[in-house]
Amino acid sequence: MSQSPSPAEAIHDADRSRQWLAGQAHGPGVDRDRLLEVGAAMAAVTAAAAEREPVAVASAPVGVDPGAPIVKPLPADLLRPLDTNAEMRWPSMAGQGYVVPIDRFFVRNHTVTPHLDAATWRLRLFGDGLRGAPTRDNPVEFDLDELRRLPAEEHAALLECAGNGRRYFAEQQDEPTPGVAWGLGSVGVARWRGVRLGTVLRLAGLRDEAVDVMPEGLDPDYVSGGVNLGRVRRPMPVAKALDDVLLAYEMNGEPLPPDHGFPVRVVVPGWVGISSIKWVGAIEVSTTPLFSPWNTQFYRMFGPGHPADGTVLTAQPVRSAFELPWDARVPAGEEMLLTGRSWSGNGPIAHVEVDTGDGWRSADLVAADRGGAWQRWTVRWCPPAAGRHVLRARATDCTGAVQPDRAAPNDLAYLFDAVVAHPVTACWPQLRWC
Ligand code: MTE
Repeated sequence: MSQSPSPAEAIHDADRSRQWLAGQAHGPGVDRDRLLEVGAAMAAVTAAAAEREPVAVASAPVGVDPGAPIVKPLPADLLRPLDTNAEMRWPSMAGQGYVVPIDRFFVRNHTVTPHLDAATWRLRLFGDGLRGAPTRDNPVEFDLDELRRLPAEEHAALLECAGNGRRYFAEQQDEPTPGVAWGLGSVGVARWRGVRLGTVLRLAGLRDEAVDVMPEGLDPDYVSGGVNLGRVRRPMPVAKALDDVLLAYEMNGEPLPPDHGFPVRVVVPGWVGISSIKWVGAIEVSTTPLFSPWNTQFYRMFGPGHPADGTVLTAQPVRSAFELPWDARVPAGEEMLLTGRSWSGNGPIAHVEVDTGDGWRSADLVAADRGGAWQRWTVRWCPPAAGRHVLRARATDCTGAVQPDRAAPNDLAYLFDAVVAHPVTACWPQLRWC
């Protein structure tokens, strides 16, 4: 399966999301044949696993500062710290392959990275959407080895914060907003390996009547404005949970690093990053719609032009970035290769245009990425004169959605999808200054 839905799947997902928003989403439930199928697959995998070398599981880090919000090092050329978070520096992706290496993958922490013990970790499923309505105190449990014995899948999927690009609301649209002042670096593609959430839900006894599934993290409670909002958690419709969602325990071929959800996280390809709950400890499955501050208070579009109770965020919009420093110095009069990437939560990118100051022209798309979670592209450019230039990249996705000139304003400054004006300064090579 490819990491991103095909155009048809994307439209199908959008339909199901609309049903969810209208409170009409229903999962296909547990069909007897499907249960037998999963059971048989489990038996086969268990037998195969018994003959395989066990996969090493890293233990949580020892000797790290327990108060530091992020465990991994934050080298200045790879990551830019922002409160409890860190954004990837786009120039560090120049010359890299398809996926973002772990050392520069962005981190979005509401609080701090918890240090969890894989040996005692359990995934606990509960709620009336499961047969027998197990309770939070008496849930259906899986340990890490049990998850690893289930059929595994690996997909390159895109993860992106809904607030990516937020700082351009102020810088380009003169609309100062609250929230983490991300540039375009809270996005990344990684290879995630794990078991389908649908497989685990079915084994736990998913009922036909279930409508919502809410994973919950094991990081500390989130306190906002003096109010304790509890553990980070956000529901999704059963239809989405059964579609392409993974319970991942590996990232880029390594055990999930602490900052990215060790030992297990949810990965919801293409949806706002908050859907992909890290350090997942519990999952509630319900026959009635579920709510948390993360789908009622946050991660909704509020403000003029939006419904009074806001619009819940699901798929990410279309965006593009140059793999170039902000206000890069480039040689005037010399041809250079501009590189960048574009992506969309709706599905693959269809085409990309770049404007270096004299109108839009098509970028060359890297063929190997076609249909994938994001699209690398290149454009040749010869800065005609010394001085300031502005570069712009604009992508169109498979649904025809194209980046606008202005992003839709909203109170919490989500989904900045407008074309970003990227400044560069060209200098004559023989001069040391410009
Ligand atoms: N899950 C938990 N438990 N706690 C969090 O703070 N942040 C969410 C999501 N899952 C978060 C979480 C947000 S807003 C994003 S964008 C992604 O994780 C970021 O994942 P990453 O830090 O691995 O890049």
